[in-house]
Amino acid sequence: MDNENLTKPEIENSQEEILEKTLRPQTLKEYIGQTKVKESMKIYIEAAKKRKEALDHCLFYGPPGLGKTTISGIIANEMGSKIKITSGPAIEKPGDLAGLLTNLQEYDVLFIDEIHRLSKNVEEILYPALEDYVLDITIGKGPEARSIRLDLPKFTLIGATTKAGALTTPLRDRFGIVQKLELYSIQDLTTIIKRSSKILKVEIDDKSCEEIARRSRGTPRIANRLLKRVRDFALVLSDGKIDLKITKHALNQLEIDELGLDETDRKMLNMMIVQYNGRPVGIEALASSLGEEVDTIEDVYEPYLLQIGFIARTPRGRVVLPPAYEHLGYEF
Ligand code: ADE
Repeated sequence: MDNENLTKPEIENSQEEILEKTLRPQTLKEYIGQTKVKESMKIYIEAAKKRKEALDHCLFYGPPGLGKTTISGIIANEMGSKIKITSGPAIEKPGDLAGLLTNLQEYDVLFIDEIHRLSKNVEEILYPALEDYVLDITIGKGPEARSIRLDLPKFTLIGATTKAGALTTPLRDRFGIVQKLELYSIQDLTTIIKRSSKILKVEIDDKSCEEIARRSRGTPRIANRLLKRVRDFALVLSDGKIDLKITKHALNQLEIDELGLDETDRKMLNMMIVQYNGRPVGIEALASSLGEEVDTIEDVYEPYLLQIGFIARTPRGRVVLPPAYEHLGYEF
C-alpha cells in the first residue's frame, strides 16, 4: 500500500508492523523455542522436499503472539516457495477463495489466519481443494447453472487459530499436521529479546533482557513490544543504553507488574476475589463485568493466568487460586 494514502494512525501502525516483521526469524535455525514443533516441522519439510511433493496441510493453534504467522513464513521459505497471507474474515465469498487458490503456484503456502472464522460456503469449496487439489465452481444460475472443475497446483494450506475447538470437524480432519504452540519459557524469551536488541542496534544488559522476559507473559510479540517501549525510555531519559534501572522504571510506568500482569488482569483477579468471593464465575459474567469480549478473555488473558496457576477452569466456572491472592496482597 502507498503510504501517502494512509491516515496518520495507520502510518504509525504500519511502521510498528514493519518493525515487527524485521524482528521475525526467516529460518527454522533462527527460530527460538517451540522445540517440539520445530523438530517435527523440520522432518516433514525435508520429507516433502525429498518426495518432491507439497507439504501436507498444517494447522497451528495457540494463544495470540506466539509466532503462528512467523513459523508459516519460515515453512514457505524452507520449502523454497512463496506464501500468501489472508484471514478467515477477509475471505467473504467463495469467489474470493477461488481467486486466491487459482493464483497459487506449485508448493506455495496459503496462510489463513483465524481460520475458525471462515464462512460455511467458503469452507465447503475448500474441502475438495485440500483433498484433491481441485476447485468446483458453479457458473450461471437456476436451470442454466453448471458446475465445472478446475485443477489447482499442489499447494499447502496453513491454518492458524486461537480456538482449535471452534473448527468444524470436516475442516480439522483435512489437516495432516496439527501443532499446538505453547507459551515460551523465560529463558527462550530472554534469548529472543537479546536477538531483537541486536537487530534494533540497542545496547542492553543480560539482567534487563531477563526482566523484560519475565514480564512478557510467555509471548514473543509482547516481549518485542516491551523492548521497543523500554528503548524509548532509555533514549529519552538516559543515554540510549538499556540497564535494569531504566527497564524497571519503564515497565512500571507501563503498569506491567513483576509477573507481566496488566491492569485488565489485575481488575479481573480483584473482581474474582472481592466481588465473587473466590467462588466459580462463568466466563460470560466475568466478561460483562469487565466490559471485555468473551473471546478476548479466553484468548488473551486466560492462557497466561492458567499457566502461572492464578486461575483454574472448573465445570462450574473459573476460580481464582491462592497464588493470585498472595500476588495481589490478599489473605487467602
Ligand atoms: N521473534 C519473535 N518470535 C521469535 C522466535 N520464536 N524466535 C526468534 N525470534 C523471534
